[in-house]
Amino acid sequence: MRTISTCLSPQLLPLHSFEDKTVVVVDILRATSSMITAFAYDVASITPVPTLADCRMLKEQGYITAGERGGQKVSGFDLGNSPYEFMDHQLNGKDLAFTTTNGSQAILSVTDAHTIVLGSFLNLSATADFLLAQNGSVLILCAGWKGKFNIEDTLYAGALADLLQNEFAFEDDATLASQSLYQFAAPDLMGFLKKGSHPRRLAGFENHQDMEFCIQRDKFQLNAIFREGKLFRLEQTSII
Ligand code: MLT
Repeated sequence: MRTISTCLSPQLLPLHSFEDKTVVVVDILRATSSMITAFAYDVASITPVPTLADCRMLKEQGYITAGERGGQKVSGFDLGNSPYEFMDHQLNGKDLAFTTTNGSQAILSVTDAHTIVLGSFLNLSATADFLLAQNGSVLILCAGWKGKFNIEDTLYAGALADLLQNEFAFEDDATLASQSLYQFAAPDLMGFLKKGSHPRRLAGFENHQDMEFCIQRDKFQLNAIFREGKLFRLEQTSII
């Protein structure tokens, strides 16, 4: 039977094998939610890069620069990391260079994986459908915050595991714990999330609306897949 496992922090990645798996990278607040929103607004590609300098170099080649450090927009960048900034039809067909504190680094840490897709509540069911249509096992990689566990990515892992449980065996206790936490929190996800550290950090920057947006379920029916250094939109649950 196919399996699903969960890596609750990039620091734990050396304990997981993922080369033959589909890795779902998730940074609910806010990198992967913003990236999925950008694809819903038809950006052509997103190139995740590790540093601000990498982003600035790509700007010279015509890329739109986006991202954050410490949750705040970087001086000189075209866009920050609020999903609202990507709800712009002028981004249609554009290539984005994206660097964030945790999310883009998490994507770059699993480039050896067979397949990488982005996870968010905004496209939760589309991702579950995609994974169900694939043959392989799955690792959910939670981006966390600077190596630490976070609540929002863990809740997403639990929600996805909940959707996959009939077809995938849970390989580890992290998946079981994430699912249990999600089931406990689901009746008031927003109330539960607000207690977390990153929601409080973002609230300090007056980004309340971002959190409400990012926890909406199934707003978009699309997936984003990583291929040769870039993320692209996948329309349907095609088999890779
Ligand atoms: C990250 O990648 O660390 C985040 O998306 C931070 C943020 O909320 O902007």
